[in-house]
Amino acid sequence: MTDNSRRKFLRDLGGTAALLGAGSLAAFGKEQVHLLKPDTRISANDKIRIGCIGMGIMGFGDVETALKVPGVEFVAAADLYSGHLDKVKEVYGKDIFTTRDYRELLNRKDIDAVIVATPDHWHDTISIDAMEKGKAVYCEKPMVQQIEEGHKVIATQQRTKAVFQVGSQRVSSIALLEAKKRYEAGEIGQLNVVEARMDRHDALGAWQYSIPPDATPANIDFDTFLKDTAKVPFDPVRFFRWRNYKAYGTGIPGDLFVHLISGLHFITGSLGPERIYASGNLVQWKDGRDVPDVVVAIFDYPETKTHPAFQMTLRVNFADGGGGGEFTRFIGTEGVLELGWDDFKIKKHKLSQAPGYGGWDTWNTFPKSTQDAYVKQYNEKYPADQRKPAQRSENAYAAPQGYDSRKDHFINFFESMRTGKTVVEDATFGLRAAGPALVTNESYFSKKVIHWDAQKMRIV
Ligand SMILES: NC(=O)c1ccc[n+]([C@@H]2O[C@H](COP(=O)([O-])OP(=O)(O)OC[C@H]3O[C@@H](n4cnc5c(N)ncnc54)[C@H](O)[C@@H]3O)[C@@H](O)[C@H]2O)c1
Repeated sequence: MTDNSRRKFLRDLGGTAALLGAGSLAAFGKEQVHLLKPDTRISANDKIRIGCIGMGIMGFGDVETALKVPGVEFVAAADLYSGHLDKVKEVYGKDIFTTRDYRELLNRKDIDAVIVATPDHWHDTISIDAMEKGKAVYCEKPMVQQIEEGHKVIATQQRTKAVFQVGSQRVSSIALLEAKKRYEAGEIGQLNVVEARMDRHDALGAWQYSIPPDATPANIDFDTFLKDTAKVPFDPVRFFRWRNYKAYGTGIPGDLFVHLISGLHFITGSLGPERIYASGNLVQWKDGRDVPDVVVAIFDYPETKTHPAFQMTLRVNFADGGGGGEFTRFIGTEGVLELGWDDFKIKKHKLSQAPGYGGWDTWNTFPKSTQDAYVKQYNEKYPADQRKPAQRSENAYAAPQGYDSRKDHFINFFESMRTGKTVVEDATFGLRAAGPALVTNESYFSKKVIHWDAQKMRIV
């Protein structure tokens, strides 16, 4: 089978994923389902063959997850450090094609899809090259390192019609879908504040990752890693701890805020904030990094058809002497949605209709006879049912034990390849999530409030 006919065959097979226990069947297009024969089985030819570019922490994690989806085969890997390619062969066998040059991987006709799990500054170029070569792309978050790159990725996707999905797995989480339903049903009333923290206090959490003893220029293609950034001498610290440098990563906002922003946009349907201000500091991890280890940011979200105006504060503190911890709260006028990764709680606090008296109140300062007159008047004004105290209630939702939203995210991606259904997290969603994170960096470094046009995805 030629490359093109094989890919068409995969598309024509349509709903095969439905037979594979795919998680998101609700979204399954009816017109594809009729193509199915109940006894259809995926044969060797029907497999989706994937390659992974960037075989570091996430590359290994993504490949492992993608392979949990039936009908997927891992055939090739590209990485700039030979040790990672050796590890690929150790884990997946010597037949896996490995290369330091991702273009060799893209030139292979037997690869249908690639995972892009490199440092952030390489996401745009590799994704664009892959789409140009007719590959479907699963690109890790943040989609891009620079806003302009995001527009190029969107334009390439629109022109090539490649299947392109960003890798913020929460967007496929059944818990977030349920939270979205409850939010839309008005369970927390009018949303007015979102607050989230992802604090940590350990060296690995602060991105001081292990550096292998064989990190030498012979084993690492450092020049390619640098791409178009400033030329610096071989430096394994920059290579393995790239998150700590503006040139290659996106700091705390691109690495962590982007997950929170993606979840928020998914639940509320928001396109993004209109104003961002960020502050912070480099407090504890002064290891040569040029990004802060504490970032606090305020985002103003304007009123839209899907939500009222609200404020969001995000904080990540890698110097949290309290030991760290995370929460995300959507605060509404009638309740609070506390979001975990694949679970949530809704705590409701329904106000009494009557305002009450006593407590910390001027009523206490009235003479006894005036207090009595006040109570008489009050009881006449507010019948007993309106005087009931505030009602508190709580309900919780958790995805089943062992649930993995990353697997559902890959199922959604492969379904889009097979059926042509729209991806759950397209390039525009990706830039609308990454953009505010990149603007957060812009605000931090310029110490300015930055205005963001969420519709056009540009700094104003
Ligand atoms: N979705 C998530 O929850 C999640 C979690 C962690 C990381 N990520 C994202 O995944 C990406 C990778 O992060 P990581 O923690 O795996 O980093 P990592 O440093 O462990 O891995 C990056 C790998 O890319 C390789 N590489 C660099 N430039 C390359 C190039 N031009 N061609 C081929 N290989 C190249 C490096 O050699 C390295 O092995 C980042 O964008 C990160 O934000 C996503």
